[in-house]
Amino acid sequence: MKNHLWQVIIMLLMLSCTMQDKPDNNKHDMERTWWKEGILYQIYPQSFKDTDGDGFGDFKGVIEKLDYIKSLGITMVWMNPFFESPLVDNGYDVADYRAIHPRYGSMEDFQKMLDGFHERGIKFVLDVVVNHSSNEHEWFKQSRSSRDNPYRDYYHWWPAEKGQPPYRHSLFDPEGAWEYDSLTNAYYLHTFAEQQPDLNWENPKVRKEVYDIMKFWAEKGVDGFRMDAFQFASKDTTWPEFPTGHEKEFIKWYGMRPQLHDYLKEMYREVIEKYDVFAVAEGAGSTFQDAHDLVDADRKELQTAYHFEGVDMSRTPDRYTLSEFKEVFTRWDSAFAEKGWIAIFLSNHDNARLVDRFGNPSPEFRTPSTQMLNTFLLSMRGTPYTYYGDEIGMTNIDMPNIEEYVDIDAKGKYKAALAAGEDLTEFMKVLNYSSRENGRTPMQWDNTGNAGFTTGVPWMKVNENYPDINVAAQERDPNSILNHFRKMTKVRKENPVLVYGKYELLQREHPDIYAYTRTLDDEKLLVLLNFSQETASITLSGMSDFGEPIINNYSELDIENNKVSLLPYQAVILKIK
Ligand code: GLC
Repeated sequence: MKNHLWQVIIMLLMLSCTMQDKPDNNKHDMERTWWKEGILYQIYPQSFKDTDGDGFGDFKGVIEKLDYIKSLGITMVWMNPFFESPLVDNGYDVADYRAIHPRYGSMEDFQKMLDGFHERGIKFVLDVVVNHSSNEHEWFKQSRSSRDNPYRDYYHWWPAEKGQPPYRHSLFDPEGAWEYDSLTNAYYLHTFAEQQPDLNWENPKVRKEVYDIMKFWAEKGVDGFRMDAFQFASKDTTWPEFPTGHEKEFIKWYGMRPQLHDYLKEMYREVIEKYDVFAVAEGAGSTFQDAHDLVDADRKELQTAYHFEGVDMSRTPDRYTLSEFKEVFTRWDSAFAEKGWIAIFLSNHDNARLVDRFGNPSPEFRTPSTQMLNTFLLSMRGTPYTYYGDEIGMTNIDMPNIEEYVDIDAKGKYKAALAAGEDLTEFMKVLNYSSRENGRTPMQWDNTGNAGFTTGVPWMKVNENYPDINVAAQERDPNSILNHFRKMTKVRKENPVLVYGKYELLQREHPDIYAYTRTLDDEKLLVLLNFSQETASITLSGMSDFGEPIINNYSELDIENNKVSLLPYQAVILKIK
């Protein structure tokens, strides 16, 4: 009798499993996970909210704003580095991976902040900067002290008696990626600034150190890791001479060596799998094959990666074209239609502001164009990333003089332009538009002094448009960018079709409207985005009976049979019956 009961239970269990696994044309749907369904909000901690008046944002400031963050409808937070650091690259130069820089608070404050996120159902993603450390990290101090120090092989050294090392381009240093150190008469490698020496991932001790650091934070309860500049972790250490003219094809020539996959598999076994955490890599290689190899679930390396082709479209004031925009996002979607998962983003701490680069920052169109871009981000397949301030349409600042810049990247580029004899007026025009300083100005909370960010002197100048663009004002306006963002996160969460559904581009050639459908089982949504500042219309053959839009950034919508007319930057999502 007992046996019989067990047989029935097992049969019922098997039946329920096969029901869940019912065949579906969409493979992603079968592998539903929290990070695919996640909506990520990125916090640049020094610019978010200051509570002690030192002009830098801090953990207590984030704690104060936890309910605001929750109210956005986001479900994951990625915070940029807050570790002990000489701050040469705003914290991307870590001197102690287990200690917190005092300007952010204490470990206790960190724990309180983390608990605060968890109590609100928000996952926390830590920034792991381990392609390089700071030159003030104890490992590097040891490593440079003598050639036979046990830490020597933690970094890449080239003995000077072999002559000059083969030239390598550095992303931040116009003089190249090798720095001479007279103490041991040798050069060390730094892909970024000279204060950011590259760690030697070929050394198993280095890899173990990194996994131990990750375990330390996983034990504290973080839910995921963002692997900074990770494509560079594995390089060709025979140091071949790179052909001139290819200096800027960084990834192909300077990273993504096959060993990278071995390291990631090891990291997966050691940390990701053990702690059941999530990992996303900055960069996705230079081909789809690279990207697939990183995120194919069967390979057990990473869960997702993010590519740069989207943000790279608008690095200069010459605007991107809508056809290019459609092409890039459609191509990346189709590459992951069956397998693998990517992130969708248009801005972050390394870029100028979303609305300046992809929308229209003029007072007339700032609101609808930011709403339209947020509708795009939150209606694509892939985990959407929103950078702090883009939920209220924060804009670029005006910094025409190089003296005002604090960013090492901007300063390095200026030095290089000067040395190359470039037209500096033109250079400054492009820098003013594209520099990452634009995306690092303090969060605009209200119209009180310094936008409510600090009572002290802010570390970075506050955008003077804060009396117009701020959270408090937008809270009061039901049609604000902020409230549209909240509506959109709600729509995404209520419609799994927006997460898992198949994406199909419509009317590729339309000059003003980006139109696509998302389909899951018998549900189909139509997304219509007007990327222009003029009214534009689209005729959708074979579609009618649209019903009420589930999102619309205007109060009206002009539909006549199957012709839809959209106002400037209007964004709508319609249910197709
Ligand atoms: C990544 C970070 C960037 C940093 C660089 C060096 O690209 O996003 O901010 O400067 O790595 O760590």
